[in-house]
Amino acid sequence: MNNFIYHSPTKVYFGRGYETKIGSLLAERGFRKPLIVYGGGSIKRSGLYDTVLASLKEAGLSWAELGGVQPNPLLALAKEGIARFRAEQCDVLLAVGGGSAIDTAKVIGLGVPYDGDVWDFWCGKATPKAGIPTTVILTIAAAGSETSQSAVITNEDGMLKRGLNSEFNRPLFSIMNPELTYTLPAYQTACGVVDIMMHTLERYLTLPGEVELTDRIAESLLKTVRTYGPIAIAQPDHYEARAELMWAGSLSHNDLTGCGRASIFINHKIGHELSAKYGTAHGASLAIAFPAWAKYCYRSNIPRFAQYAVRVWGCEMDYAKPEATALAGIAATEDFFRSIGMPVRLSDIGIGEAEIDDLASRITAGGKNVIETYIPCGKQEFAEILRLAL
Ligand code: NZQ
Ligand code: ZN
Repeated sequence: MNNFIYHSPTKVYFGRGYETKIGSLLAERGFRKPLIVYGGGSIKRSGLYDTVLASLKEAGLSWAELGGVQPNPLLALAKEGIARFRAEQCDVLLAVGGGSAIDTAKVIGLGVPYDGDVWDFWCGKATPKAGIPTTVILTIAAAGSETSQSAVITNEDGMLKRGLNSEFNRPLFSIMNPELTYTLPAYQTACGVVDIMMHTLERYLTLPGEVELTDRIAESLLKTVRTYGPIAIAQPDHYEARAELMWAGSLSHNDLTGCGRASIFINHKIGHELSAKYGTAHGASLAIAFPAWAKYCYRSNIPRFAQYAVRVWGCEMDYAKPEATALAGIAATEDFFRSIGMPVRLSDIGIGEAEIDDLASRITAGGKNVIETYIPCGKQEFAEILRLAL
């Protein structure tokens, strides 16, 4: 087991009705004026927006707003949010939505106390030294941003989609009412299912070998999502299914499933470039990346991939040919992604051979970066992985 630091300080209010208390939850912490950050309109259609404003009014709070955050959120809008937060003299961020709204709020939270360009943090020129707290009302089980230390943003200048880990990114508290996810389209629910699984797999299919407790937590989480994902897709108002997914989404990315292990996040690197260049939904981009990456790398860790196949997918262990078991687990994952309506090939989203070189170049910063996983992956290796995804 590797050394690790585990710190997941976000307070979680989980279950029906907590969103009606948002006003008092902010007021009792001494906040007077949140900047509400939200997306393209789902919270207005569902009535959540009205619920939030009523609760703020009742608690005697005022507020300012930043709406219009798009999936795979853009830096320019976050910068607009930094200016608005300052001009309106807000004192806390309230993201109402999914990863895109939450991450935009986190960018604003780091940008407000900083004199320079907030992108400095994402391109490695500076390290955050302070942050305005972000609070959350979650409407989609997917990114895990509601408890994670990450924030992912795309700089329109070059369409660079980058993540930043910082303890200042951990939300102060998150309200998670599974009912708020009933209105999700099946496609977004499925994207969330893939993303949740991938946050665990990017920590599980790594070196070192077994870390028993962490492995068992990860496997339980994956099996839970495998069971309840299709139920939530078939019955959008199935409370227990939505609740299982929502809690899995947070635990998958608050670092619990990685304690004592390395994490790789190589599929996320591939996925981010698909999202940045083609606007592919985050979960869908991972459903394409994983089968190809796994087929490329599994030979470097056959026992691990075989364990995954047996424990998560119930594949029979072939002791004479463990490689066959490893491959069966990869095939089961791919079949599952396909069964919930996800693309699993680049061709499923209209991308062909002609794009491979540029994508591999973007993943490796123009061929400069080599990413260490099982096999060190530079531009050539990524091109080979992408070809397996064609
Ligand atoms: O914009 P609105 O109108 O709200 O619609 C959204 C959006 O179109 C819709 N939606 C959300 N909740 C809904 C709903 N529609 C109906 N009913 C509801 N209850 O769903 C669409 C997707 O929303 P988004 O916030 O983009 O989804 P998600 O949570 O998957 O976030 C994706 C973003 O998070 C990043 C991704 O890269 C991507 O940019 N990630 C952030 C991470 C983090 N901060 O820790 C980790 C992840 O790996 C991921 O990279
Ligand atoms: Zn993700």
